[in-house]
Amino acid sequence: MFIKNIELTNFRNYEHQKIFFSHETNIIFGNNAQGKTNILEAISLFSSGKSYRRVSDKNLIKYDCDFARIRIEFDSFNTEKSAEIIFTKGKNKFIKLNGISLSRTSELLGVFNCVVFSPEELYLINGAPELRRNFIDLFISSQKPLYYNTLKRYYKVLKQKNNLLKDINNNFETLNIWNEELAENGAKIIVYRKEYLAELSKRANEAYKKISGGREELKILYNQNVSSENYEKSDLKNRILEAIERKKQKEIAIGASLVGIHRDDIDFFIDGQDARIFASQGQQRSAIISLKMAQAEIIKNQSGEYPVFLFDDVMSELDSERREFIASEIKNSQVIITSTDRYSSGKKEKFFYVENGTVREVT
Ligand SMILES: Nc1ncnc2c1ncn2[C@@H]1O[C@H](COP(=O)(O)OP(=O)(O)OP(=O)(O)O)[C@@H](O)[C@H]1O
Ligand SMILES: [Mg+2]
Repeated sequence: MFIKNIELTNFRNYEHQKIFFSHETNIIFGNNAQGKTNILEAISLFSSGKSYRRVSDKNLIKYDCDFARIRIEFDSFNTEKSAEIIFTKGKNKFIKLNGISLSRTSELLGVFNCVVFSPEELYLINGAPELRRNFIDLFISSQKPLYYNTLKRYYKVLKQKNNLLKDINNNFETLNIWNEELAENGAKIIVYRKEYLAELSKRANEAYKKISGGREELKILYNQNVSSENYEKSDLKNRILEAIERKKQKEIAIGASLVGIHRDDIDFFIDGQDARIFASQGQQRSAIISLKMAQAEIIKNQSGEYPVFLFDDVMSELDSERREFIASEIKNSQVIITSTDRYSSGKKEKFFYVENGTVREVT
């Protein structure tokens, strides 16, 4: 899969800009605050519908404008496709795929795949559990649309249950129905999350070993608040229900749901030690690179095509060993790199110079 071009209108600091990419390596360079990351952000919006900088849609619209429009043309299995997103000042967002309007952002998931490497991604190790859950949920959703529906249903019911808990009024019948549904969907979600994490962990460990010269072991584990060790899959729902039942009084007392997949987390271990507490910056960075490489491999395995690789300002921070590892892993995929200097990957490249919201291809 590769992106052929992107057209930005009133997006961040761009008034109007079209960029034609090489399907191999692209280097976007320029001083700080000129608009390099904004380009990667715009591209990545097509794979997740949300900014990886975790800002709300309205911040993407150029100051003093009413809307922003981004459009890409990309190639997937030798077929040319296009996608377009229009953000408006109101809450509405309009999405088109190959000229046809989509009613939900989620319909975009899995159509255009990219994997982002950015220094901020260390939040996946150090940040709040919710961020790790979002990462795994978005990843699985892009590969399995049914998972997204189950997840959406889960969170809808959870919200209703939380409202009820705040004002229960002896309505235990409704509470039981919702608990039943949360356990049912929660069990399905756990099975998927564990399956994907097992695969991510295995592949990330292989990558990590190469990065660390085979010296260290990386493990990524699902940290489940309802223990289900030694239980059959079919028992999982009952285990969750029992756990909810045990916490029922407490849930009512504090007016919130204490048990379920919305409280689960993902843990990173390097040589058996919790990476959040013990790993160095360099080890954490290597773990994230390994995780992302693993993600790309799984996308390739499931969809048949590698995603587009987006590297936001990370190359200059890596030592040559890690850089070479990345180059050797990526081989024939499209790569788009931002850097403050005119970085060269040593491959066939297209260079773009960015200055104050204007992009110029340079030789
Ligand atoms: N909604 C917006 N409207 C107009 N300008 C914006 C908007 N959002 C961000 N900007 C501007 O975009 C610029 C930042 O762009 P970007 O993050 O792409 O910079 P960068 O080139 O990646 O810089 P760095 O090298 O520091 O990472 C800033 O000047 C910021 O003020
Ligand atoms: Mg930047």
